[in-house]
Amino acid sequence: MKEIIPIACDHGGFAMKQYIIEKLKDNAYEVKDYGTYSEESVDYPDFIHPLAKDIEDGVYPLGIILCGSGNGAQMTANKHHNVRAALCWNVELGKLARQHNNANILSLPGRFISHELAWEIVQAYLTTPFEGGRHQKRIDKIEL
Ligand code: RB5
Repeated sequence: MKEIIPIACDHGGFAMKQYIIEKLKDNAYEVKDYGTYSEESVDYPDFIHPLAKDIEDGVYPLGIILCGSGNGAQMTANKHHNVRAALCWNVELGKLARQHNNANILSLPGRFISHELAWEIVQAYLTTPFEGGRHQKRIDKIEL
């Protein structure tokens, strides 16, 4: 069965989202697209909260969110229990977000990196396992 990747963005991340969706489909993933669906100005929490809620509820193990900077999307997602959203702008950060933080959402800055680099980060994020061990102990201390 194909792995389903949920993805959400605002207008600042729309073009990059469309690029990543095509790449995911080309690489045998299925996609659940939470919008937004155009460049029209929107408020990122309206699109990020529904995805983050589904990660919180265990509907999907890993998700991808985007906005112009990646910050608003990440801040919104991290309001959800057991969501660890990581803002990543290079491949090493994408790997570390999984290895050390067991990040379950990747946040990308749609206006600050190339689409090609974003896809490399997505691949690193989706294929890198969590290392566990000492990192699990630290993650256990995050929730309030
Ligand atoms: C939208 O203009 C922009 O503020 C948004 O995409 C994001 O960067 C917010 O953090």
